[in-house]
Amino acid sequence: MPNAQRSPRYAWIEENHEERQESFAASVDAGLGSEAPSLPCRFLYDAKGSALFEEICDLPEYYLTRAEHEILANHADAIVARCPSPAALAELGSGSSSKTRLLIEAFLRRQGRLRYVPVDISRTALDDAAKALLADYGGLEVLAIASEYSEGLRHVGRETRLPKLIAWLGSNIGNFERSEAKGFVRSIRDAMSADDRLLLGIDLRKEAKVLEDAYDDPKGVTSLFNKNLLARINHELGGDFDLGAWRHRARVVEDGGRVELGLVCERPDEVRIDALEQEYSFSPGDFIHTEDSIKYSPEEIAELADAAGLGVEERWLDSDERFSLTLLSAR
Ligand code: TRP
Repeated sequence: MPNAQRSPRYAWIEENHEERQESFAASVDAGLGSEAPSLPCRFLYDAKGSALFEEICDLPEYYLTRAEHEILANHADAIVARCPSPAALAELGSGSSSKTRLLIEAFLRRQGRLRYVPVDISRTALDDAAKALLADYGGLEVLAIASEYSEGLRHVGRETRLPKLIAWLGSNIGNFERSEAKGFVRSIRDAMSADDRLLLGIDLRKEAKVLEDAYDDPKGVTSLFNKNLLARINHELGGDFDLGAWRHRARVVEDGGRVELGLVCERPDEVRIDALEQEYSFSPGDFIHTEDSIKYSPEEIAELADAAGLGVEERWLDSDERFSLTLLSAR
């Protein structure tokens, strides 16, 4: 049974906290034990990781957040106008919900009241975001769902009777492989009725230099964010990774279509993880893959939508043509 709590304007549901904790241990075990060591990127976002990611979003090199903000600032009213009135707003991977404010404000201008259903893996991020939003918007009601995407999607369906706009922003879709992304967008489509809309924020393919800077900033915030995964293994699973032995690496491959992110071992690190009763031995040059950030061309976005059974209602780009927002409906 999920944990849940309700008050007049704020309710939350937390799905499977214990199971998620177990799945952290099991994923670390499977990931580090494999021939090409990897760690799943969803574990980057504990309270500390979510806060570090917010810092990344403020970096001048991380153009994604500003480009998406610009599009929303210019077109939020047009996006909302393409949804039935009144409608609810759901969001996958909402984090601090700061860009979402532009959509929330557009909905409130139109319909005065709004039910907002954010889904995020971090309870802390959800709580902080909900508190700030409720303080600023009297007409808002928040139902926060702490879970992974697919469980969250089930709750979104159950908790919104009105037609809804589902926002999936920040190019979070890029953290799925291309074929998985198609499958997941198809499952979103299957949860949509004819009146619902999907708003997808997707980063575009571009020259390597811009991507390298965005994913490996000179202040080292991105490096801290990535290494937080090792710190988390140390704290939560009784590990003893030597964080100083590892270096953050962002490599642009596939003609600007993918940024491969991970940690490179720079000096021998013998790691014991108590909770797994395992030892791992890393040598210089060893690589732990933590995330891919996949980029799309406009044609690839159209193809993705088509493969998932969605039709494009409208598409917007920022003025530098780095980032795209696409509004979709079920066909
Ligand atoms: N979803 C973000 C992205 O793909 C996550 C991210 C940004 C990230 N910088 C990172 C993940 C560095 C790992 C390491 O843009």
